[in-house]
Amino acid sequence: MKSLSTRRVLLGITGGIAAYKSAELTRLLVKAGAEVRVVMTHAATEFITPLTLQALSGNRVHTELLDADAEAGMGHIELARWPDLILIAPASADFIARLAAGRASDILSTLVLASKAPLAIAPAMNQAMWSNTATQENLHILRQRGARVFGPGSGEQACGDVGPGRMTEPQELLELSAALFDTGLLAGLKVTITAGPTQEAIDPVRYISNRSSGKMGYALAAEAAAAGAIVTLISGPVALATPDRVNRIDVLSADEMLAASLSSVQDCDIFIGVAAVADYRPEQVAAQKIKKSADSLQLNLVKNPDIIATIAGLENRPFTVGFAAETNDIEDFGAQKLQRKKLDLLFANDARATLGSDSIAAIALWPAGRAELGPASKRAVALRMVEIIRERLDAR
Ligand code: C5P
Repeated sequence: MKSLSTRRVLLGITGGIAAYKSAELTRLLVKAGAEVRVVMTHAATEFITPLTLQALSGNRVHTELLDADAEAGMGHIELARWPDLILIAPASADFIARLAAGRASDILSTLVLASKAPLAIAPAMNQAMWSNTATQENLHILRQRGARVFGPGSGEQACGDVGPGRMTEPQELLELSAALFDTGLLAGLKVTITAGPTQEAIDPVRYISNRSSGKMGYALAAEAAAAGAIVTLISGPVALATPDRVNRIDVLSADEMLAASLSSVQDCDIFIGVAAVADYRPEQVAAQKIKKSADSLQLNLVKNPDIIATIAGLENRPFTVGFAAETNDIEDFGAQKLQRKKLDLLFANDARATLGSDSIAAIALWPAGRAELGPASKRAVALRMVEIIRERLDAR
């Protein structure tokens, strides 16, 4: 189940007899390589103990909205930004009504309200409750807001009735969840992505660099590959594992990154520059380690090539996507960069909130429009970015 590997799944459990099956679902998600955090309503804890889910998920289970201890660990807003997917299984009729009404009356409904992550629900209830117009209207509202509804199945119910309302089996929920990430949106397209910082040598042991972690570029590489693209990731030095099905080329300096990019885009449909390329490099690289002697030392810096502007200026250019990390006037500066570098699309974000962090908020800008993304996990935002790239490609 490759497409669930390293995904962050927030599993919400609400009150219903099917809650006992959520233990198996947790086990299957973990086995598929997902990181799982479980959040339970009070009613759910009447059916299955948090301790069981804690043991299976390997993480503390959240049950309280107002819990000083939990807030000191991962608070509820942080938790809302954590997942790549919120899966609620089982989702009771009452909980579905709470979601449709936009309530924040317990920790789980609060998290759903506060989160920008995709939402999937697996309803489980008595067949009469399922068929009731109230429930159907609530589900209609949730679907219109983008929620996926998995099931329910039909058959014998715990109460003795026969009909629709049985929670979809854990194995099928696992497969349906995995399929959410297998979008095929970039199937067969060749995508080149730059990521991470560059290192500009001063002498054999020292360099100038920046705090870029590479997480956003790597998340995008993982999502593009999951969407079926053939991905080349040109990476500065970072401490991250190469995503599945991604061809990674390691570089150090901006010059090396430019050379690798020019070679890769000869045969490429989409170029995405996520790297935080150093703007300047030392004019001279000392052949030997510079000794400390004088009280001050001057380094003369010269401008690095602008990789993305170079790519965008090529005659047969690929669809070119840039990033802009700003500390102020984010949208204005982003729009200027889009125009100046002649990009097809640009994602602008707040550098202070983004650098090194696992979550991100961004504004997508293209010559005739804009869209807001997040705040959410970098993977969840990367998935939206892939969708927007597809839309803009189609509109071109
Ligand atoms: O001008 P600024 O560095 O803010 O632009 C950011 C965008 O330009 C990013 O997409 C980044 O990867 C790209 N860039 C580049 N080469 C540079 C500087 C930035 O490709 N020398």
